[in-house]
Amino acid sequence: MPLDLVVGAQWGDEGKGRIVDRLAASADLVARWGGGDNAGHSVTVGDQVHRLHLIPSGILHPHTVCLLGAGMVIHPGRLVEEICQLQAAGVDVSPARLKLSAAAHVITPAHLALDAAQEAGRGAGQLGTTRRGIGPAYTDKAARRGLRAGAMRSPEEFSRQVTDSVSGAAAASPVDHASLLPEARAAGQEYAQHAEFLLPYLADTGRLVDEALSQGKLVLGEGAQGTLLDLDHGTYPYVTSSCTTTAGALAGLGIGAQHLRQVIGVVKCFQTRVGAGPFPTELHGDLADRLRGSGDRPWDEFGTTTGRPRRIGWLDAVLLRYAHRINGFTALALTKLDILSGLDPLCLCSEYRRQAGDEAAPEVSDLERASPVYLALPGWQSDLQPARAWEELPAPARDFVLEVERQAGVPIRLISVGPERQQLVERDPR
Ligand code: GDP
Ligand code: IMO
Ligand code: MG
Repeated sequence: MPLDLVVGAQWGDEGKGRIVDRLAASADLVARWGGGDNAGHSVTVGDQVHRLHLIPSGILHPHTVCLLGAGMVIHPGRLVEEICQLQAAGVDVSPARLKLSAAAHVITPAHLALDAAQEAGRGAGQLGTTRRGIGPAYTDKAARRGLRAGAMRSPEEFSRQVTDSVSGAAAASPVDHASLLPEARAAGQEYAQHAEFLLPYLADTGRLVDEALSQGKLVLGEGAQGTLLDLDHGTYPYVTSSCTTTAGALAGLGIGAQHLRQVIGVVKCFQTRVGAGPFPTELHGDLADRLRGSGDRPWDEFGTTTGRPRRIGWLDAVLLRYAHRINGFTALALTKLDILSGLDPLCLCSEYRRQAGDEAAPEVSDLERASPVYLALPGWQSDLQPARAWEELPAPARDFVLEVERQAGVPIRLISVGPERQQLVERDPR
């Protein structure tokens, strides 16, 4: 005991990496449970901005051991690249510190090609995936024909399996099959090299988590994506293909619910989304541009993984309450409060309007029809980045936080006022 989880409460990019970086200071194990390199978690330490896609943000604290859990899908080349990048930045990413679940699934070049082809085939109805092969890899997993990371223990056999997977996908495509075969063989060889590199990282991560918990160590689960991108409970079909919620953490790490102590929902104080799908509070024009930023600052709202501008809107408390229902948050971390400085009034969607003739307002399952009702709250002018204590926040900023807390029905214990480690206000709401 115990297990603490950090879960995205919106459509991803809430600042999970930044919050994990803070909480990892007192954790022993930090574990990702789902998704793959579709995730992009930026963590600022001093003058360095680390952009992590697969490796948990906890790796930046030298005392932690980090795990890539069974629920993940791993592109071996990208993992090798990320390990090397971190090592070049002076971070120890030796096999003693990073463990890759043998049960995690492998993303092959066939999955990448399929992701792109499926998106192209959707035409105007594109989901806007990250094109990292995530959907096709989880499809193979569910169809029980996927390739697991444990297969890397025999690099030659692994190479053959990757070649077969690529040539199999090529055979099923309308493209000339024979011309793709050399590519398939090259992919096999490349993957064999990655397997040699990653072999010492392979582990039974479920057992490691269980041992750590039974020794009383603190295990911190690092969520990827967000609740509204969850395969079952998100805005389907505009979702990712994994389970991004509390339930997914238990399944993806292979542990029982009795260990769970805290579920920290990470909420950005406005709403963003990359990719297609319903977005009731979406803004366009100057206000959206102002909240998004120009792209000059590392925290401006452009995708860490794809560089795409994120769609922007006011914070939606209906969706926040829904995320709480799905995850059972014990506390919230509210991020990017500093970005709201200078905007007056601030809007917060408290409910959806009931449509003429309907008995109730639209449900989350029916967001296309949702029309937000806003509370207008007074803004503030001062820069919040220097604030370190609740009392140092201007009164309208405190009132904004209290209103979000009231709307969500969950205590807000952490308030982030900048991307850097110390730009955080801790609060005891009692
Ligand atoms: P994640 O995917 O949930 O980890 O979030 P991302 O890393 O994709 O996006 C969050 C971005 O906002 C990163 O660039 C963070 O460094 C930055 N960030 C996080 N919290 C704050 C904050 O309170 N203020 C500002 N200005 N930037 C923040
Ligand atoms: P982090 O962990 C934001 C979105 C994609 C697309 C949908 C499906 O950084 O918060 P996929 O490639 O997963 O099949 O794409 O999911 N998406 C994310 N959006 N943050 C993420 O991760 C995301 N991971 C996937 O933009 O709409
Ligand atoms: Mg991100």
